[in-house]
Amino acid sequence: MELLLNILFVILSLLAAAAVGIMIFFKLTISLRDSRRQWAEKQLGQGNRKALLLYQPSNAKRNVPQAEALAARLAEMGYAVTVNCPSEDLPYSPGDYDLLVFGSPVYLGEVARPLRRYLETHPFTGKQVLLYVDGLDLEHAPELETLKGLVPAGNELHAIKVPPRDQEKLLAFASEHGG
Ligand SMILES: Cc1cc2nc3c(=O)[nH]c(=O)nc-3n(C[C@H](O)[C@H](O)[C@H](O)COP(=O)(O)O)c2cc1C
Repeated sequence: MELLLNILFVILSLLAAAAVGIMIFFKLTISLRDSRRQWAEKQLGQGNRKALLLYQPSNAKRNVPQAEALAARLAEMGYAVTVNCPSEDLPYSPGDYDLLVFGSPVYLGEVARPLRRYLETHPFTGKQVLLYVDGLDLEHAPELETLKGLVPAGNELHAIKVPPRDQEKLLAFASEHGG
């Protein structure tokens, strides 16, 4: 009997430890998703038209090469591209750009808070806008609908959800809708 009680105690302790571990993991994921990244601005391309690309690096940064490839594609398309991470206190005014591109990874059904805050605090109209989210569940994209809802009416808006390592799909989307 005592042995059984000891085994039960060990099993319950392990379950409790696993539950705490999972809670800490989710909390850290959300906290990283919503943290403001302070990377240096990058400039690419010499074109006459101006594009602003603001994207949130994913927690393990797997979407960074994808964003860099996107910036390079926009430069090839004739844009002078400014790349940075989003936050509400960025100096960029959307009105100064011909093309606005915003990207974010999705964790637990939401995109990064710094991007949401940038869009909420920098309204614009009459712009060509590309939104993309990086996620693994391509069948469902409620977060993309939420993000679209933060873009004011009166813009030409296109949006896509892509896997974080899929560069081709995102580049094809940019070529089709960013010209
Ligand atoms: C805790 C967690 C929650 C996630 N939630 C979603 C989700 O709600 N929808 C989705 O499409 N992908 C989700 N993903 C997949 C991430 O979007 C994907 O792993 C991320 O874009 C890849 O970047 P990373 O590996 O650099 O973190 C989730 C991933 C993790 C780890």
